Amino acid sequence: MANYLTGFKCLGCGKEYGREYDGYVCGSCLDNLDALYDYGGIGRSFAVKKLKNNKTNSVWRYKALFPFDSLDSVPGLDLSLTPLYKSAFLEETCGIEVYLKDDTRLPSASFKDRASAVVMAVAKEKNIDVVACASTGNAGCSWACMGAACGIKVIIYVPETAPRAKIAQLKVYGADIRIVKGTYDDAYDLCVNDSRENNYFNRCTGYNPYTREGKKSVSYEIWEQLGFRAPGTVLVPVGDGNIISGVWKGFRDLKQLGLIEKLPMLIAVQSDKSDAVIRTFEKIRNRENTWQEISVEQVRATTRADSISVDRPRDGTAAVRALLDTRGCGVRVSDDRIIAVISYLAARSGIFVEPAGATSVAGLIKLAEEKSVKIPEPAVCLLTGNGLKDVDAVLGGK
Ligand SMILES: Cc1ncc(COP(=O)(O)O)c(C=O)c1O
Ligand SMILES: [Zn+2]
Repeated sequence: MANYLTGFKCLGCGKEYGREYDGYVCGSCLDNLDALYDYGGIGRSFAVKKLKNNKTNSVWRYKALFPFDSLDSVPGLDLSLTPLYKSAFLEETCGIEVYLKDDTRLPSASFKDRASAVVMAVAKEKNIDVVACASTGNAGCSWACMGAACGIKVIIYVPETAPRAKIAQLKVYGADIRIVKGTYDDAYDLCVNDSRENNYFNRCTGYNPYTREGKKSVSYEIWEQLGFRAPGTVLVPVGDGNIISGVWKGFRDLKQLGLIEKLPMLIAVQSDKSDAVIRTFEKIRNRENTWQEISVEQVRATTRADSISVDRPRDGTAAVRALLDTRGCGVRVSDDRIIAVISYLAARSGIFVEPAGATSVAGLIKLAEEKSVKIPEPAVCLLTGNGLKDVDAVLGGK
């Protein structure tokens, strides 16, 4: 076996499927699937000592934990580990040790490249030649970017309200762009239907179980960059909830392998104008019963932070389970605060993020001000998208 994937388990009802299953979601309850691995097998080739001697400075140093066979299948773009900066100014502002994980410099300038690179490798090994994705913008840009690097035709469904820079990226990467007169949620439903009818390989976030398997690499990097230890807390901007579920998966993998003892506390940060995951979490949090009763809430999202403007979180069950499993919580921030934090952060760190990317820092500052939650140290804020993707956010445009 050239990879250690053993199958999938439904995050909603627990039903299990074999590794050849290609139905995307659970056939019984339609919730998303979590990839399962042979951790015994992985453990034989994945260890701290081996990593220390591994000369590959990219996510592919974690190959044993990915669900594809060969590194020949990965896009030939640079996926070097992204910087983890210790932030003196946030330490001063918040009174705790804080790190910034800068994913603004991945090939298409967002965190989404972690998922797209891995899912593209899976697609190549399945001999797929047309792939599709619905996107608020970044997932599509990264899917188109990786498709261009692999010579695979890419179709992207994107709401007409997506920032111009993201549409420009889609255009120059050569994607077949389907502009949807509606919301991201409309684009998503259209993409799922068209993909089913036309047999496109569909990368839609959460729906495609391999997206989480790409996103989880951020956790391995943080663990390694902190000297092979888990942080106390990770603050994550949340829309569909797939990034946070990927962070959770990465640390679960490390725990399964005996490489960390405890999962870090995960904090979901959302705009107060797009807070479906937090609403769902708050409904279930205080009950004795478990995740099996999660029923994902729906809102009418209107946030200026386009990347996290989501009515119905498409990886909502997993996101809420991530919070429950890590004794985590949610924090809502206003759009004004998000926009203000973009300049605050850039002027003190040299890192320019788009609105969604500023959300994690906005959430941390808010929690530190309120002193309502004890934040285990060190805390890591994920910076998930580059500020040049949406300059109107700071110039006062639309
Ligand atoms: C820059 C950025 N941050 C955060 C997110 C939120 O990720 P998720 O939708 O998986 O919660 C996205 C998703 O598009 C994004 O592009
Ligand atoms: Zn199910």
